[in-house]
Amino acid sequence: AALKQYQFDIQVKNVSRLCHAKPIVTVNGMFPGPTIYAREGDRVQINVTNHAQYNMSIHWHGLKQFRNGWADGPAYVTQCPIQTGQSYTYDFNVTGQRGTLWWHAHILWLRATVYGAIVIMPKPGVPYPFPQPAFEYNLVLGEWWNDDVEEVVKQGNQLGLPPKMSDAHTINGKPGPLFPCSEKYTYAIEVEQGKTYLLRIVNAALNDELFFAIAGHKLTVVEIDAVYTKPFTTDAILIAPGQTTNVLVTANQASSRYFMAARPFMDAPVTVDNKTATAILQYKGVPNTILPSLPNLPAPNDTAYALSYNAKLRSLNSPNFPANVPLNVDRHLFYTIGLGVNPCPTCQNGTKLTASLNNITFVMPQTALLQAHYFDQKGVFTTDFPDRPPTPFNYTGAPLTANLRTVQSSVPRLSKIKYNSTVELVLQDTNLLTVESHPFHLHGYNFFVVGTGIGNFDPKKDPANYNLVDPPERNTVGVPTGGWTAIRFRADNPGVWFMHCHLELHTGWGLKVAFVVEDGPGEDQTILPPPKDLPSC
Ligand code: C2O
Repeated sequence: AALKQYQFDIQVKNVSRLCHAKPIVTVNGMFPGPTIYAREGDRVQINVTNHAQYNMSIHWHGLKQFRNGWADGPAYVTQCPIQTGQSYTYDFNVTGQRGTLWWHAHILWLRATVYGAIVIMPKPGVPYPFPQPAFEYNLVLGEWWNDDVEEVVKQGNQLGLPPKMSDAHTINGKPGPLFPCSEKYTYAIEVEQGKTYLLRIVNAALNDELFFAIAGHKLTVVEIDAVYTKPFTTDAILIAPGQTTNVLVTANQASSRYFMAARPFMDAPVTVDNKTATAILQYKGVPNTILPSLPNLPAPNDTAYALSYNAKLRSLNSPNFPANVPLNVDRHLFYTIGLGVNPCPTCQNGTKLTASLNNITFVMPQTALLQAHYFDQKGVFTTDFPDRPPTPFNYTGAPLTANLRTVQSSVPRLSKIKYNSTVELVLQDTNLLTVESHPFHLHGYNFFVVGTGIGNFDPKKDPANYNLVDPPERNTVGVPTGGWTAIRFRADNPGVWFMHCHLELHTGWGLKVAFVVEDGPGEDQTILPPPKDLPSC
């Protein structure tokens, strides 16, 4: 095991895309930010120094941070933000994980430009459970706004409306030639005939689930969210914000140039967004003048494709990489996902959009929840978040306007979980305002996606069809539009762990909650002491 050290300077830099130049927040002046490389077992230290005018905090998305929530990063959950002129060192061990993850700002909407990939290689001498690729490329998918993103969000909030959508999607920060002034902002990779490549794909977009495909080439999925899968071949992958997917692609087509493309999956009955980001896969020796062809991507509302794609995902579950699915459940949670409209005297229209779990819109505290928990500070939060919604109803039936006004408490309400207990959480989409797909991310854990379905979850019938053998293990799961997803995990990581929709729009409206996982009895089952340089609020 080695010590890997990085310096992240948060700095504002002028960047130009789509004929628009604007100052953006960056790490070390890079957009996207630098890739973190480590090996399983390494210790990683990243010193973040904030030179920007915004408060900052950075989340290492998918790293479990065992007993070490101090290094997790969500502002006001595990730490107070790093203020202008201050530094904080994220110090963590990479234990029992290898694969592709990513990092991003976890405050305001700053992850619009503050993000990058994390590549964790297996321990020395440990091969991948698939043929060694000739080369590896990272493809980090994102979004670009011509306007200042924080201003866009502010305007939306004032009106009580969703902020305006991004102007482009991007691949490694580049929109590709289908957008204006983007010819020179086109990412390209070179391949050699007959060789196989590993693509590490990250969806860092703020609000869009994406389909991704390469013209003429099949993709073999081998890993999701840094967990190996049973390999399967597909024309297009579906990847939600927060998720990562590793695919193998073999250069076995005519020597030419091909577009790789990403476009949203949006099956909610709202505005359809079909902006297509492209990058180029180019065979060695082929001239740049050849016009590449576009892949066939599923239509933005192709729910059937999305469901059948997700149904193909399976844990590898091999002797070396067993899937330890909890077979018995100590604690059953059932959370409804709701969007709604609340009164808002300060908003231009008198109302604002809200989002809720079990009809509760989560409010953020003034100080960090993990500190409050560790130091037993009273009054910062309560632990009475309900295990189920206040009243059962036909969740996916006609919109129930009576239920639209969600409850907002003065302090955040958390859910307390016993150490090492096994938890099953069913996330149920509702039609309170509209049905929509929601990618849910849990900090501090991977979970097993044991079941999913359309319509209302039936606790009598649906568990009989769970996959408890090789369900996909991940840290972010798409709850289908008008449907439900059941996840299981063992609460063996003490701390305060955030769970939220990874659509920034919905997180901002309150679609989030945090779990307090209690300490265990053993010496190595408690939260580690906080680092000396932990920021204060
Ligand atoms: Cu990738 Cu709490 O987020």
